[in-house]
Amino acid sequence: MYGNFTIKETPVILGIESSCDETAAAVIRGGKLLSSVIISSAEEQAKYGGVVPEIASRVHTDAVDGAVLRAVKEAGITLKDLDAVAVTYGAGLLGALLVGLSFAKSLAYSLNIPLIAVNHIRGHLAAAYLCDGNLKPPYVTLLASGGHTAILHTKSYTEFEVLGSTCDDAAGEAFDKVARILGLPYPGGPNVQRLAESGKAEITLPQALVRNSGKMQFSYSGLKTAVMNFCHNSAQRGEKFNPADVAASFQVSALEPLVKKTVGCAVRLGVNTVTAGGGVAANEYLRTRLSDECAKADLKLILPEKKYCTDNAAMIAAEGLIQYRAGNFAALDINAAAQIALQ
Ligand code: KG4
Ligand code: ZN
Repeated sequence: MYGNFTIKETPVILGIESSCDETAAAVIRGGKLLSSVIISSAEEQAKYGGVVPEIASRVHTDAVDGAVLRAVKEAGITLKDLDAVAVTYGAGLLGALLVGLSFAKSLAYSLNIPLIAVNHIRGHLAAAYLCDGNLKPPYVTLLASGGHTAILHTKSYTEFEVLGSTCDDAAGEAFDKVARILGLPYPGGPNVQRLAESGKAEITLPQALVRNSGKMQFSYSGLKTAVMNFCHNSAQRGEKFNPADVAASFQVSALEPLVKKTVGCAVRLGVNTVTAGGGVAANEYLRTRLSDECAKADLKLILPEKKYCTDNAAMIAAEGLIQYRAGNFAALDINAAAQIALQ
């Protein structure tokens, strides 16, 4: 009979992530990360210029057991030492999520340990705890990934308020689109960043910020269109432009509003710590600008290592620990969710 769990002070938790093109598994004991394995299908996906859901699901199916067994081995434990299995149940590609979720359910059932269903976005927030084990709410987080862009006020380990968010595309999505416009291969974000490093941010583009809307809102669709128009119009006029300058100018317009507003929110709320998460938080320009502005405002910045900003299972295990301590266990009939509202 499944159930009747003993809650431990320092649980060993396995995290599993399969929401997009990374099959990942990780183990933590208490807040200490013991192992983190990531198997990416990005190279396979690059042939098609983006993530093909069918391919993602197939790669997860091939990779999930190997990733889990490696994570357990590298943690220096056996499956029997696990106290809970935390898994991403959403948001993401449905077929991809189902692979990790089904695997996690079977494992939790067979070991008779709790299943913890993790919201991927909360996982991105929890990556900050991997970076600083002493981090405690309240703090302000800049969350910028391929699906979300928001500034959040984390009030307790389990509660956050959305202070502002994008009203259209996410920042990561815009990076991926601009990469395509500039003829850069998938994954777009890191390639735009690399190109931008040799460019000058001298092209006038709109800032990714909606002004005078009454609430704090970001917008990336206008910026993306402006980049597209600039490239097309220049080509039509037979004017040469340097793609590196476009990348650098885009990066500034896309990221400056996020930096300024994040720091502004922390100052306004009187919160002394800022964290960041999501794939775009791996961007070097963003990281440098955030640390400069946080230093100026005398704010402590907790910036997870880049490998814990992009999709990984360590962050899922970290959020799993929070949910474990709150006693939030999932039933074995829980389904995957392609979308979960930010709040
Ligand atoms: O968090 P993530 O790995 O997956 C989602 O949950 O969406 O974020 C992926 C997004 C992609 O859009 C990718 O282009 C972007 O993060 N990204 C970056 C960088 N690395 C990844 N964007 C800008 N600069 C980077 N270095
Ligand atoms: Zn993600």
